Amino acid sequence: MVNWHSRAGAAALCGAGAARAGRARTVDTVDGVDDANNVDIGTGRAGWAEPVGGPAEPVSDMAERIPDVRALSSGLARAGYLADEPLATALFLAVRMGQPILLEGEPGVGKTEAAKALAAVLDTPLVRLQCYEGIAAAEALYEWNYPRQLLSIRLAEATGGTLHDADLFSEDYLLARPLLAALDHRGPRPAVLLIDEVDRADDEFEAFLFELLAESAVTIPELGTRKAALPPITILTSNRTRDLHDALKRRCLYHWISYPDTGRVAAIIRRRVPATAGHLANQVAESVRSLRGLDLTKPPGVAEAISWATALHVIGVDELTAATAEQTMSAVLKYSEDGDVVRRAGLAAVVGERGRA
Ligand SMILES: Nc1ncnc2c1ncn2[C@@H]1O[C@H](COP(=O)(O)OP(=O)(O)OP(=O)(O)O)[C@@H](O)[C@H]1O
Ligand SMILES: [Mg+2]
Repeated sequence: MVNWHSRAGAAALCGAGAARAGRARTVDTVDGVDDANNVDIGTGRAGWAEPVGGPAEPVSDMAERIPDVRALSSGLARAGYLADEPLATALFLAVRMGQPILLEGEPGVGKTEAAKALAAVLDTPLVRLQCYEGIAAAEALYEWNYPRQLLSIRLAEATGGTLHDADLFSEDYLLARPLLAALDHRGPRPAVLLIDEVDRADDEFEAFLFELLAESAVTIPELGTRKAALPPITILTSNRTRDLHDALKRRCLYHWISYPDTGRVAAIIRRRVPATAGHLANQVAESVRSLRGLDLTKPPGVAEAISWATALHVIGVDELTAATAEQTMSAVLKYSEDGDVVRRAGLAAVVGERGRA
């Protein structure tokens, strides 16, 4: 017989579906935790704290690693990411000021990749939280390992042991999800925390995130408050499918990533598809620019430019013509209506074949 001293825990573990019960319990039991240093993970109430004051001290060797914007730019380029100066500056400030940064921009302009490249430059882990409609705080932060708790209870039952709350709701049974993993990262440098496509999450989750980011701390009712020893370098991305809360934006640095100019697109193609001849990279970049001038449902972005160059390489052509463009359109256009628009405009004109002839 088990002496398990937890009504809340028993309710959670004996309910329908341990995992679901786990979430319910997390939400139900943390009500009211919202003092200046704590995060109310249950309600997601918008009890906005003041921003983290002043520039943070540079942590570990980051100041030496990226002493200035130029050093960061070169590091990003070595990692395969070609950032223009405004983006490199914004990322530099985010790292050195210890403030989250919100990157917005059209799909495929390199928002997600910027975070990956920054983690590579800093030689630190990238912790990614992919947001989606209905994402809940518990999935993003931590969950209790209910199967393991149940096993422990059964084992105690079998051996006549005694289990207390503290035994079952301890570190051994804690499953860190991305946000907690980023807060818990021990270094030597802070983790890069990518909160990707935050515009897909709902308002409540956004409010919860904001508090967590402002404090770099979280309260786990059973374990107490955990403050990040090394607050993560946080990059949020949004495709602007909806406007984010002003309070979130106020606490973040902000940068809009524009579609790069043609020269940079060609350089990105050469970097990402090294087998592409220089002149073909230029032709693809120019043609994508022409396509973006048409009234398309989904104008191609950097990702499509790379995909187009890859497709041309795979079929073994080194000249973009109306015929080779037709063969490889599947890499560029994602709507059949867009194909009609392009054919009406004339593929030869779009790829600049006439000008070349
Ligand atoms: N500046 C850049 N340098 C190198 N590669 C880039 C750059 N910008 C974009 N890319 C490449 O383009 C592709 C799309 O980039 P990424 O997925 O980061 O875009 P995104 O803005 O996050 O798009 P989405 O909004 O659809 O998530 C990736 O393969 C990435 O490597
Ligand atoms: Mg992305």
